[in-house]
Amino acid sequence: MGYEVTMKALVLSLVVGAVAGIRPSKLVRQVPAIYVFGDSTLEVGNNNYLPGEGVPRADKPYYGVDLPGSGKPTGRFSNGYNTADFVAKRLGFDNSPLAYFVLKAHNKLIPSSITRGVSYASAGAGILDSTNAGKNIPLSQQVRLFESTKAEMEAKVGPRAVSELLRRSFFLVGAGSNDFFAFATAQAEHNKTATQSDVAAFYGSLLSNYSAAITELYKLGARKFGIINVGPVGCVPRVRVLNVTGACADGMNQLAAGFDAALKSLLAGLARKLPGFAYSLADSLGLTQDTFANPLALGFVSSDSACCGSGRLGAQGECTPTATLCPDRDRYIFWDSVHPSQRSAMLGAKAYYDGPPRYTTPITFKQLAAATP
Ligand SMILES: *[C@@H]1O[C@H](CO)[C@@H](O)[C@H](O)[C@H]1NC(C)=O
Ligand SMILES: *[C@@H]1O[C@H](CO)[C@@H](O)[C@H](O)[C@H]1NC(C)=O
Ligand SMILES: *[C@@H]1O[C@H](CO)[C@@H](O)[C@H](O)[C@H]1NC(C)=O
Repeated sequence: MGYEVTMKALVLSLVVGAVAGIRPSKLVRQVPAIYVFGDSTLEVGNNNYLPGEGVPRADKPYYGVDLPGSGKPTGRFSNGYNTADFVAKRLGFDNSPLAYFVLKAHNKLIPSSITRGVSYASAGAGILDSTNAGKNIPLSQQVRLFESTKAEMEAKVGPRAVSELLRRSFFLVGAGSNDFFAFATAQAEHNKTATQSDVAAFYGSLLSNYSAAITELYKLGARKFGIINVGPVGCVPRVRVLNVTGACADGMNQLAAGFDAALKSLLAGLARKLPGFAYSLADSLGLTQDTFANPLALGFVSSDSACCGSGRLGAQGECTPTATLCPDRDRYIFWDSVHPSQRSAMLGAKAYYDGPPRYTTPITFKQLAAATP
Protein backbone atom coordinates (compact mmCIF):
# COMPACT_ATOMS: atom_id res chain seq x y z
CA MET A 1 0.00 0.00 0.00
CA GLY A 2 2.73 2.43 1.03
CA TYR A 3 4.58 1.44 -2.12
CA GLU A 4 1.50 2.11 -4.20
CA VAL A 5 1.09 5.58 -2.74
CA THR A 6 4.76 6.28 -3.42
CA MET A 7 4.38 5.11 -7.01
CA LYS A 8 1.36 7.37 -7.47
CA ALA A 9 3.30 10.31 -6.11
CA LEU A 10 6.21 9.38 -8.37
CA VAL A 11 4.01 9.28 -11.46
CA LEU A 12 2.49 12.63 -10.56
CA SER A 13 5.82 14.25 -9.87
CA LEU A 14 7.23 12.94 -13.15
CA VAL A 15 4.22 14.21 -15.04
CA VAL A 16 4.31 17.57 -13.31
CA GLY A 17 8.10 17.71 -13.59
CA ALA A 18 7.91 17.11 -17.32
CA VAL A 19 5.40 19.89 -17.72
CA ALA A 20 7.19 22.43 -15.57
CA GLY A 21 10.58 21.34 -16.91
CA ILE A 22 11.93 20.90 -13.41
CA ARG A 23 14.25 17.98 -12.96
CA PRO A 24 17.38 18.03 -10.90
CA SER A 25 19.63 16.25 -13.40
CA LYS A 26 21.26 17.84 -16.41
CA LEU A 27 18.77 16.10 -18.69
CA VAL A 28 15.37 17.71 -18.78
CA ARG A 29 12.72 15.23 -19.72
CA GLN A 30 10.33 16.51 -22.36
CA VAL A 31 7.87 13.70 -21.67
CA PRO A 32 7.39 11.38 -18.67
CA ALA A 33 7.95 8.13 -20.61
CA ILE A 34 8.64 6.65 -24.06
CA TYR A 35 7.08 3.51 -25.53
CA VAL A 36 8.77 2.08 -28.60
CA PHE A 37 7.25 -0.15 -31.31
CA GLY A 38 8.79 -1.44 -34.51
CA ASP A 39 11.76 -3.24 -36.02
CA SER A 40 15.54 -3.61 -35.80
CA THR A 41 16.18 0.09 -36.32
CA LEU A 42 14.67 0.58 -32.84
CA GLU A 43 15.17 -2.76 -31.04
CA VAL A 44 17.21 -2.92 -27.84
CA GLY A 45 17.25 -6.62 -27.01
CA ASN A 46 13.81 -8.25 -27.17
CA ASN A 47 14.86 -10.81 -29.76
CA ASN A 48 17.53 -12.21 -27.43
CA TYR A 49 14.61 -13.65 -25.47
CA LEU A 50 12.82 -15.22 -28.44
CA PRO A 51 13.42 -18.92 -29.08
CA GLY A 52 14.44 -20.32 -32.46
CA GLU A 53 17.32 -20.49 -34.88
CA GLY A 54 16.00 -18.02 -37.42
CA VAL A 55 15.43 -15.15 -35.00
CA PRO A 56 17.64 -12.17 -35.90
CA ARG A 57 19.73 -11.20 -32.88
CA ALA A 58 22.48 -8.62 -32.45
CA ASP A 59 24.06 -10.66 -29.67
CA LYS A 60 27.60 -11.06 -31.00
CA PRO A 61 30.56 -8.79 -31.65
CA TYR A 62 30.99 -6.47 -33.44
CA TYR A 63 27.52 -5.26 -32.55
CA GLY A 64 27.85 -2.70 -29.77
CA VAL A 65 31.59 -2.22 -30.33
CA ASP A 66 31.25 1.54 -29.83
CA LEU A 67 28.95 1.51 -26.80
CA PRO A 68 30.59 3.43 -23.98
CA GLY A 69 32.11 1.26 -21.29
CA SER A 70 31.43 -2.27 -22.40
CA GLY A 71 31.67 -2.22 -26.17
CA LYS A 72 29.55 -5.35 -25.91
CA PRO A 73 26.46 -6.39 -27.89
CA THR A 74 23.14 -5.41 -26.30
CA GLY A 75 20.70 -6.46 -29.01
CA ARG A 76 21.05 -3.17 -30.85
CA PHE A 77 21.66 -3.55 -34.59
CA SER A 78 24.32 -0.87 -34.51
CA ASN A 79 27.96 -0.32 -33.63
CA GLY A 80 26.66 1.83 -30.77
CA TYR A 81 23.35 3.47 -30.02
CA ASN A 82 20.42 3.34 -32.42
CA THR A 83 17.63 5.66 -33.51
CA ALA A 84 15.46 4.90 -30.46
CA ASP A 85 18.37 5.80 -28.17
CA PHE A 86 19.04 9.09 -29.92
CA VAL A 87 15.37 10.06 -29.97
CA ALA A 88 15.20 9.22 -26.25
CA LYS A 89 18.36 11.27 -25.57
CA ARG A 90 16.81 14.25 -27.34
CA LEU A 91 13.72 13.82 -25.18
CA GLY A 92 15.88 14.05 -22.06
CA PHE A 93 16.51 10.37 -21.26
CA ASP A 94 19.85 8.55 -20.99
CA ASN A 95 18.90 6.26 -23.87
CA SER A 96 16.05 4.05 -25.10
CA PRO A 97 13.76 2.51 -22.51
CA LEU A 98 14.73 -1.12 -21.88
CA ALA A 99 13.30 -4.02 -23.85
CA TYR A 100 10.06 -5.53 -22.60
CA PHE A 101 11.54 -9.03 -22.21
CA VAL A 102 14.61 -7.70 -20.39
CA LEU A 103 12.35 -5.88 -17.94
CA LYS A 104 10.17 -8.98 -17.52
CA ALA A 105 13.20 -11.20 -16.89
CA HIS A 106 14.49 -8.87 -14.18
CA ASN A 107 11.12 -8.18 -12.63
CA LYS A 108 11.37 -4.52 -13.53
CA LEU A 109 8.41 -3.98 -15.84
CA ILE A 110 6.99 -2.07 -12.91
CA PRO A 111 8.45 0.48 -12.16
CA SER A 112 10.20 1.02 -15.52
CA SER A 113 6.97 1.13 -17.51
CA ILE A 114 5.89 3.99 -15.25
CA THR A 115 9.09 5.92 -14.73
CA ARG A 116 10.74 5.61 -18.13
CA GLY A 117 8.83 3.53 -20.66
CA VAL A 118 9.24 0.21 -22.44
CA SER A 119 10.56 -0.95 -25.81
CA TYR A 120 8.60 -3.60 -27.66
CA ALA A 121 10.63 -3.27 -30.88
CA SER A 122 11.78 -6.50 -32.48
CA ALA A 123 14.19 -7.08 -35.36
CA GLY A 124 12.56 -8.62 -38.40
CA ALA A 125 9.11 -7.40 -37.41
CA GLY A 126 6.92 -5.90 -40.07
CA ILE A 127 3.59 -4.17 -40.13
CA LEU A 128 2.15 -7.50 -41.27
CA ASP A 129 2.10 -10.54 -39.00
CA SER A 130 3.04 -12.61 -42.03
CA THR A 131 6.42 -10.85 -42.45
CA ASN A 132 9.18 -13.16 -41.18
CA ALA A 133 6.44 -14.95 -39.25
CA GLY A 134 7.52 -16.84 -36.13
CA LYS A 135 10.89 -15.08 -35.96
CA ASN A 136 9.98 -11.81 -34.27
CA ILE A 137 7.29 -9.98 -32.32
CA PRO A 138 5.01 -8.60 -35.03
CA LEU A 139 3.58 -5.12 -34.57
CA SER A 140 0.12 -6.40 -33.62
CA GLN A 141 1.68 -8.53 -30.87
CA GLN A 142 3.80 -5.60 -29.66
CA VAL A 143 0.58 -3.66 -29.19
CA ARG A 144 -0.91 -6.54 -27.20
CA LEU A 145 2.18 -6.63 -24.96
CA PHE A 146 1.69 -2.92 -24.35
CA GLU A 147 -1.93 -3.58 -23.46
CA SER A 148 -0.89 -6.13 -20.83
CA THR A 149 1.80 -3.76 -19.55
CA LYS A 150 -0.87 -1.10 -19.15
CA ALA A 151 -2.98 -3.50 -17.07
CA GLU A 152 0.01 -4.11 -14.76
CA MET A 153 0.62 -0.38 -14.48
CA GLU A 154 -3.01 0.24 -13.61
CA ALA A 155 -2.94 -2.46 -10.95
CA LYS A 156 -0.03 -0.59 -9.38
CA VAL A 157 -0.96 3.07 -9.60
CA GLY A 158 -4.57 3.11 -10.76
CA PRO A 159 -6.19 3.91 -14.10
CA ARG A 160 -6.27 7.69 -13.67
CA ALA A 161 -2.55 8.07 -13.09
CA VAL A 162 -1.84 5.72 -16.01
CA SER A 163 -4.10 7.54 -18.41
CA GLU A 164 -2.47 10.87 -17.46
CA LEU A 165 0.98 9.35 -17.92
CA LEU A 166 0.18 7.82 -21.32
CA ARG A 167 -1.48 10.98 -22.57
CA ARG A 168 1.77 12.89 -22.07
CA SER A 169 4.16 10.15 -23.14
CA PHE A 170 5.93 9.70 -26.48
CA PHE A 171 5.02 6.72 -28.66
CA LEU A 172 7.83 6.05 -31.11
CA VAL A 173 6.88 3.77 -33.99
CA GLY A 174 8.96 2.59 -36.94
CA ALA A 175 8.07 -0.40 -39.08
CA GLY A 176 7.54 -1.39 -42.69
CA SER A 177 11.02 -1.97 -44.17
CA ASN A 178 10.82 -5.68 -43.47
CA ASP A 179 7.46 -5.92 -45.23
CA PHE A 180 9.10 -4.41 -48.33
CA PHE A 181 12.10 -6.74 -48.15
CA ALA A 182 9.72 -9.71 -47.80
CA PHE A 183 7.55 -8.49 -50.67
CA ALA A 184 10.56 -8.03 -52.98
CA THR A 185 11.96 -11.44 -52.02
CA ALA A 186 8.64 -13.16 -52.70
CA GLN A 187 8.38 -11.48 -56.11
CA ALA A 188 11.92 -12.52 -57.00
CA GLU A 189 11.30 -16.10 -55.92
CA HIS A 190 8.36 -16.25 -58.26
CA ASN A 191 10.41 -14.74 -61.10
CA LYS A 192 7.94 -11.92 -61.52
CA THR A 193 7.67 -8.19 -61.15
CA ALA A 194 4.78 -6.87 -59.12
CA THR A 195 1.72 -5.86 -61.11
CA GLN A 196 -0.27 -2.77 -60.20
CA SER A 197 -2.85 -4.91 -58.52
CA ASP A 198 -0.19 -6.79 -56.47
CA VAL A 199 1.08 -3.43 -55.25
CA ALA A 200 -2.40 -2.12 -54.50
CA ALA A 201 -3.22 -5.23 -52.45
CA PHE A 202 0.11 -4.99 -50.60
CA TYR A 203 -0.38 -1.30 -49.77
CA GLY A 204 -3.95 -1.99 -48.72
CA SER A 205 -2.98 -4.58 -46.13
CA LEU A 206 -0.05 -2.51 -44.86
CA LEU A 207 -2.21 0.57 -44.42
CA SER A 208 -5.12 -1.22 -42.80
CA ASN A 209 -2.86 -3.03 -40.34
CA TYR A 210 -0.79 0.05 -39.55
CA SER A 211 -3.97 2.02 -39.04
CA ALA A 212 -5.33 -0.71 -36.76
CA ALA A 213 -2.16 -0.78 -34.64
CA ILE A 214 -2.01 3.00 -34.23
CA THR A 215 -5.73 3.25 -33.50
CA GLU A 216 -5.42 0.47 -30.93
CA LEU A 217 -2.61 2.37 -29.16
CA TYR A 218 -4.77 5.49 -29.23
CA LYS A 219 -7.65 3.58 -27.64
CA LEU A 220 -5.25 2.39 -24.94
CA GLY A 221 -4.42 6.03 -24.15
CA ALA A 222 -1.55 7.00 -26.46
CA ARG A 223 -1.81 10.53 -27.85
CA LYS A 224 1.64 11.59 -29.09
CA PHE A 225 2.91 9.50 -32.00
CA GLY A 226 6.37 9.93 -33.50
CA ILE A 227 6.27 7.72 -36.58
CA ILE A 228 9.24 7.00 -38.85
CA ASN A 229 8.40 6.24 -42.48
CA VAL A 230 9.97 3.56 -44.66
CA GLY A 231 13.42 4.56 -45.94
CA PRO A 232 15.11 3.79 -49.26
CA VAL A 233 15.02 0.00 -48.82
CA GLY A 234 16.46 -0.47 -52.33
CA CYS A 235 19.74 1.17 -51.31
CA VAL A 236 20.85 -0.98 -48.39
CA PRO A 237 24.10 -2.86 -49.18
CA ARG A 238 22.32 -6.24 -49.04
CA VAL A 239 20.04 -5.15 -51.89
CA ARG A 240 22.71 -3.21 -53.82
CA VAL A 241 25.00 -6.23 -53.90
CA LEU A 242 22.40 -8.08 -55.99
CA ASN A 243 23.15 -5.68 -58.84
CA VAL A 244 26.51 -6.14 -60.59
CA THR A 245 26.98 -2.38 -60.69
CA GLY A 246 26.07 -1.98 -57.01
CA ALA A 247 23.20 0.33 -57.93
CA CYS A 248 20.14 0.85 -55.75
CA ALA A 249 17.00 -1.08 -56.69
CA ASP A 250 14.97 1.89 -57.86
CA GLY A 251 11.77 -0.13 -58.04
CA MET A 252 11.97 -0.94 -54.32
CA ASN A 253 12.57 2.72 -53.48
CA GLN A 254 9.60 3.76 -55.58
CA LEU A 255 7.48 1.16 -53.83
CA ALA A 256 8.54 2.58 -50.45
CA ALA A 257 7.89 6.15 -51.62
CA GLY A 258 4.36 5.23 -52.71
CA PHE A 259 3.67 3.70 -49.33
CA ASP A 260 5.12 6.70 -47.50
CA ALA A 261 2.81 9.05 -49.41
CA ALA A 262 -0.17 6.90 -48.42
CA LEU A 263 1.04 6.79 -44.80
CA LYS A 264 1.11 10.58 -44.76
CA SER A 265 -2.56 10.68 -45.79
CA LEU A 266 -3.46 7.92 -43.37
CA LEU A 267 -2.05 9.87 -40.42
CA ALA A 268 -3.69 13.13 -41.50
CA GLY A 269 -6.97 11.20 -41.65
CA LEU A 270 -6.48 9.68 -38.20
CA ALA A 271 -5.73 13.15 -36.79
CA ARG A 272 -9.03 14.44 -38.19
CA LYS A 273 -10.95 11.48 -36.82
CA LEU A 274 -9.42 10.90 -33.37
CA PRO A 275 -9.74 13.74 -30.84
CA GLY A 276 -6.40 14.70 -29.28
CA PHE A 277 -4.39 12.53 -31.69
CA ALA A 278 -1.06 14.31 -32.22
CA TYR A 279 1.72 13.07 -34.48
CA SER A 280 4.96 13.79 -36.20
CA LEU A 281 5.79 11.73 -39.29
CA ALA A 282 9.56 11.51 -39.74
CA ASP A 283 10.82 11.30 -43.31
CA SER A 284 13.53 8.67 -43.20
CA LEU A 285 13.21 8.27 -46.97
CA GLY A 286 13.83 11.94 -47.76
CA LEU A 287 16.58 12.36 -45.19
CA THR A 288 18.48 9.26 -46.32
CA GLN A 289 18.16 10.18 -50.00
CA ASP A 290 19.50 13.66 -49.23
CA THR A 291 22.40 12.01 -47.38
CA PHE A 292 23.10 9.75 -50.39
CA ALA A 293 23.07 12.80 -52.65
CA ASN A 294 25.87 14.48 -50.71
CA PRO A 295 27.48 12.10 -48.22
CA LEU A 296 30.79 13.98 -47.95
CA ALA A 297 29.01 17.11 -46.73
CA LEU A 298 27.94 15.07 -43.70
CA GLY A 299 31.35 13.47 -43.23
CA PHE A 300 30.56 10.10 -44.83
CA VAL A 301 33.08 8.46 -47.13
CA SER A 302 30.94 5.37 -47.79
CA SER A 303 27.27 5.33 -48.66
CA ASP A 304 26.97 1.92 -50.33
CA SER A 305 28.93 -0.50 -48.16
CA ALA A 306 28.57 -2.17 -44.80
CA CYS A 307 31.22 -1.19 -42.27
CA CYS A 308 30.99 -4.63 -40.66
CA GLY A 309 30.65 -7.57 -43.05
CA SER A 310 32.54 -9.32 -45.78
CA GLY A 311 32.83 -9.61 -49.54
CA ARG A 312 31.61 -7.10 -52.08
CA LEU A 313 30.12 -3.96 -50.47
CA GLY A 314 30.66 -5.77 -47.15
CA ALA A 315 27.28 -7.27 -47.93
CA GLN A 316 28.09 -10.88 -48.81
CA GLY A 317 28.55 -11.94 -45.20
CA GLU A 318 27.01 -11.12 -41.85
CA CYS A 319 28.55 -8.86 -39.23
CA THR A 320 30.13 -11.52 -37.01
CA PRO A 321 33.28 -11.76 -34.88
CA THR A 322 35.20 -12.87 -38.00
CA ALA A 323 33.89 -10.10 -40.23
CA THR A 324 35.96 -7.19 -41.47
CA LEU A 325 35.50 -3.84 -39.76
CA CYS A 326 35.90 -0.58 -41.64
CA PRO A 327 38.61 1.77 -40.34
CA ASP A 328 36.36 4.67 -39.36
CA ARG A 329 32.84 3.66 -38.40
CA ASP A 330 31.59 7.23 -38.15
CA ARG A 331 32.33 7.70 -41.83
CA TYR A 332 30.04 4.90 -43.02
CA ILE A 333 26.32 5.44 -43.53
CA PHE A 334 25.76 1.70 -43.04
CA TRP A 335 26.96 -0.32 -40.08
CA ASP A 336 26.01 -3.75 -41.44
CA SER A 337 24.39 -4.75 -44.72
CA VAL A 338 20.98 -3.40 -43.65
CA HIS A 339 21.33 -1.07 -40.66
CA PRO A 340 22.56 2.49 -40.27
CA SER A 341 25.71 3.23 -38.33
CA GLN A 342 25.46 4.89 -34.94
CA ARG A 343 26.35 8.23 -36.52
CA SER A 344 23.64 7.90 -39.20
CA ALA A 345 21.12 7.09 -36.46
CA MET A 346 22.27 10.12 -34.47
CA LEU A 347 21.86 12.43 -37.46
CA GLY A 348 18.42 10.98 -38.18
CA ALA A 349 17.15 11.49 -34.66
CA LYS A 350 18.58 15.01 -34.62
CA ALA A 351 16.68 15.91 -37.80
CA TYR A 352 13.43 14.35 -36.60
CA TYR A 353 13.69 16.12 -33.27
CA ASP A 354 14.87 19.55 -34.28
CA GLY A 355 14.54 19.90 -38.02
CA PRO A 356 15.13 21.06 -40.71
CA PRO A 357 11.31 21.01 -40.67
CA ARG A 358 11.07 19.40 -44.12
CA TYR A 359 11.99 16.09 -42.47
CA THR A 360 8.87 15.95 -40.30
CA THR A 361 5.14 16.40 -40.97
CA PRO A 362 3.31 18.42 -39.68
CA ILE A 363 5.56 19.19 -36.67
CA THR A 364 8.93 18.07 -35.31
CA PHE A 365 9.38 15.48 -32.55
CA LYS A 366 10.32 18.35 -30.25
CA GLN A 367 7.06 20.16 -30.96
CA LEU A 368 5.17 16.90 -30.56
CA ALA A 369 6.76 16.35 -27.15
CA ALA A 370 5.70 19.85 -26.10
CA ALA A 371 2.14 19.48 -27.43
CA THR A 372 -0.68 19.18 -24.92
CA PRO A 373 -3.21 16.81 -26.48
C1 LIG B 1 -3.57 -7.41 -39.37
O1 LIG B 1 -3.94 -7.03 -38.09
C2 LIG B 1 -4.81 -7.92 -37.43
C3 LIG B 1 -5.18 -7.30 -36.11
O2 LIG B 1 -4.07 -7.00 -35.33
C4 LIG B 1 -4.15 -9.27 -37.27
O3 LIG B 1 -4.99 -10.17 -36.60
C5 LIG B 1 -3.81 -9.78 -38.64
O4 LIG B 1 -3.15 -11.00 -38.52
C6 LIG B 1 -2.98 -8.80 -39.38
N1 LIG B 1 -2.78 -9.24 -40.72
C7 LIG B 1 -1.59 -9.36 -41.24
C8 LIG B 1 -1.53 -9.86 -42.65
O5 LIG B 1 -0.59 -9.07 -40.63
C1 LIG C 1 12.78 -18.87 -61.43
O1 LIG C 1 13.83 -18.92 -62.37
C2 LIG C 1 14.91 -19.78 -62.05
C3 LIG C 1 15.98 -19.69 -63.11
O2 LIG C 1 16.11 -18.38 -63.59
C4 LIG C 1 14.41 -21.21 -61.90
O3 LIG C 1 15.47 -22.05 -61.46
C5 LIG C 1 13.27 -21.25 -60.86
O4 LIG C 1 12.71 -22.54 -60.79
C6 LIG C 1 12.18 -20.25 -61.22
N1 LIG C 1 11.18 -20.21 -60.14
C7 LIG C 1 9.87 -20.23 -60.33
C8 LIG C 1 9.00 -20.20 -59.12
O5 LIG C 1 9.39 -20.25 -61.45
C1 LIG D 1 21.44 -2.68 -62.05
O1 LIG D 1 21.42 -1.28 -61.93
C2 LIG D 1 21.36 -0.59 -63.17
C3 LIG D 1 21.50 0.89 -62.88
O2 LIG D 1 20.44 1.34 -62.05
C4 LIG D 1 20.06 -0.95 -63.85
O3 LIG D 1 19.98 -0.29 -65.12
C5 LIG D 1 19.97 -2.45 -64.04
O4 LIG D 1 18.72 -2.79 -64.57
C6 LIG D 1 20.19 -3.17 -62.73
N1 LIG D 1 20.24 -4.60 -62.94
C7 LIG D 1 19.44 -5.45 -62.32
C8 LIG D 1 19.66 -6.90 -62.62
O5 LIG D 1 18.56 -5.08 -61.55
